[in-house]
Amino acid sequence: MRTAICYHSTHHGNTQKVLEAMAQGNDVDLIDVAGGEDADLDAYDVIGFASGIYGFAFDESVMEFLRKNLPRGKKVFFVYTYSGIRGTGAKKIREAAEEKGASILGEYSCHGFTTVGPFKLGGGVFKGHPDQKELDGAKAFYQSIMGQQ
Ligand SMILES: Cc1cc2nc3c(=O)[nH]c(=O)nc-3n(C[C@H](O)[C@H](O)[C@H](O)COP(=O)(O)O)c2cc1C
Repeated sequence: MRTAICYHSTHHGNTQKVLEAMAQGNDVDLIDVAGGEDADLDAYDVIGFASGIYGFAFDESVMEFLRKNLPRGKKVFFVYTYSGIRGTGAKKIREAAEEKGASILGEYSCHGFTTVGPFKLGGGVFKGHPDQKELDGAKAFYQSIMGQQ
């Protein structure tokens, strides 16, 4: 089983930390989409998409990458870090994947440190996140979705 996770993680590298925990000891290629290059995802059995939440959604570079590069009918999952309300960040990207006939294996999300806007004044919020428990949760999530394949 080959997995690719296509991601964008620029604010504090929070999402990247989660992905590195997931990839550790597993056959996972991490593809940073920030450069804007296309990639051939045909050879992958499972494809993840990951991002911080910026303005209530995944970064547009990940959305665009999915629209251009996700082959039809793949198994996909989503990972994101956020500092606001849990559970809404993957809505648009889920819809984009469904338009490509993807079957959705699940999603994992956790808090990420942020210094955006007014939060900067107080030194940021969710300092220390993702923490070890969240990284362990990410590993467990990955093992659980792969265990069902
Ligand atoms: C410009 C900007 C906009 C953001 N918008 C949201 C948002 O709408 N909802 C939310 O929960 N977090 C928001 N955040 C917080 C980030 O999602 C959070 O810090 C995330 O962990 C960043 O991931 P990264 O370090 O991998 O880029 C925002 C952060 C930035 C910098």
